[in-house]
Parts: sequence; structure tokens; C-alpha cells
Amino acid sequence: MKIGILGVGHIGKTLSRKLSAAGHDVKVANSRGPDTIDATVLATGARAVPASEAVKDVDVVILSVPLNRVPEIAPLLAGVPAETVVIDTSNYIPGRDSQIAAIEAGQVESLWVAEQLGQSIVKAWNAIGSGSFALKGTPPGIRGRIAIPVAADDDSERAVAIALVEDTGFDGFDAGPLAQSWRQQPGAPVYCTDLTRDEMPAALARAEAARLPKRRDLSGAAIAERVGVGTNPDSEYHVRLSRALFM
Ligand SMILES: NC(=O)c1ccc[n+]([C@@H]2O[C@H](COP(=O)([O-])OP(=O)(O)OC[C@H]3O[C@@H](n4cnc5c(N)ncnc54)[C@H](OP(=O)(O)O)[C@@H]3O)[C@@H](O)[C@H]2O)c1
Repeated sequence: MKIGILGVGHIGKTLSRKLSAAGHDVKVANSRGPDTIDATVLATGARAVPASEAVKDVDVVILSVPLNRVPEIAPLLAGVPAETVVIDTSNYIPGRDSQIAAIEAGQVESLWVAEQLGQSIVKAWNAIGSGSFALKGTPPGIRGRIAIPVAADDDSERAVAIALVEDTGFDGFDAGPLAQSWRQQPGAPVYCTDLTRDEMPAALARAEAARLPKRRDLSGAAIAERVGVGTNPDSEYHVRLSRALFM
């Protein structure tokens, strides 16, 4: 498929490498221009382009930017044809994104994103930590393969996203409509806990909306307490912490 990725940070750079390695025609962009994109992002064949170019003539656009940057991307996406599938990886992290009143008041994050963009989206790759995403993908059928929840309102868009999740080395799991995608938001049992397909249904069902923000913030505080010279927690710490707090 022809894929444009906006954002080449922790998640976007791995998407770029994995999806081009899987044979897709991948263009990537950030807000500062193609010359600022690291060569490692392009190592498996992706091309760095201006952001306006990344969303042109593609089958799929993947957004992998901080959630509070989504509104500034909306004009770029305004001209994208309706049949282009837009997949969003974002999460609301108030310490990074500043407080967003509608989400604080309970709006589901993916519905807020869809509203900002004025179009339907699929939510995927938001619930796997960047370390696990980069390192733990496997071929299909391997015992213990990690699953990634995929939420969407349109079945054909969801099918495209699930196939791409599979191409990145993970089981794509149908997590229902966007209105239910709060079950894969930060603080939820499936969030960054590296569960398998078999573990997904019960973990999604166990999510309790009112507890997620508090658990998300506890996790942020525990990680912040460790950050410093030589003491940064590794990705396995993130998984252990997420399992302890969210499950
Ligand atoms: N890190 C994780 O473990 C993780 C896991 C799952 C989901 N997520 C979510 O996925 C999203 C990306 O996370 P991340 O950790 O990869 O973020 P990140 O490392 O901060 O990278 C963000 C990327 O977005 C680009 N960007 C920002 N504004 C942009 C714009 N207007 N147009 C185009 N590119 C823009 C940034 O580049 P410039 O600033 O140079 O433009 C950068 O390449 C976030 O919403 C995050 O919550 C993160």
C-alpha cells in the first residue's frame, strides 16, 4: 500500500521502518522538513518528504504526533480523499498535551481526534509502548505474540489497519467502535501491558472508565521519579509498571 506517516518519533520511526520493510511504499514527514529526519528512520526504504506531500496520493495516512498537535494537522488532511484510511496512534497525556477540556470532561480521545480532523479515523498502535513495539514483533502464529487493539467505526477501515498491524509484527485485535476505544486509553488494562490475543477480550471488558486517568497519572509520576542521569527506566520497567497499575 501507499502510506504517509506524519510524525517520526518513538512510534513513527518504528512504523516507518517496519512498514517499508514489509514492502509498503512509505513516505514520512515531521513539522520541520525532510532534511531533519534521521537516516535510521529511512533505513528500510521510506522516503522523507514535506508534510503536505506525505498525505498526497496515499491509501493510508498514519498520524503519530502528540495529541495536542492534531488540530494543526487538520488543514493538511482536509484535502485527503474520503477513501484514504486515517489511522491515529495518539494518546492524551495532560502533562505533555496541556489540559484539553472536552477530554477532561469525558470525551473519548479518538472521538476528539476525529472531531478535530472532521473525518473518520481508526485508533491503532496507541496501546503498545515504543520499546515493545520496536523489539517484540514476531511472525504470525508464534506463541505469545503480542496483540494490539484496533478500534474503528468502519469495518473496511478497521480491516486495513488490522492488516497493517499484522505487518508490523503483532496480532491486530478488533476492539470495537471508537466510542468504546476508551478501553485502550492510558490507564486501561490493555495499555502497554503486552497482552496476547487470548488475553485481550477479558482485559478490554475489565476497564473502568473512571479509574483510567488516575492510573495513567500514577504511572507518569512513577516514571518521572526515576528519570535522571543514568536512572532512566527501560521499556521492561514500563511494562512491569503498567501491569501492576492497570491490570
Ligand atoms: N512513546 C510511546 O511509547 C507511545 C506509545 C503509543 C502511542 N504513543 C502516542 O503516539 C504519538 C506519538 O508518540 P511518540 O512517542 O512517537 O512522540 P514523539 O517521540 O514526541 O514524536 C512526535 C513526532 O511528531 C512530529 N510532529 C509534531 N508535530 C507535527 C506536525 N504538526 N506535523 C508533522 N509532524 C509533527 C515530531 O516531529 P517535529 O517536532 O520535528 O515536527 C515527531 O517526529 C503520541 O500521541 C503518543 O501519545 C506513544
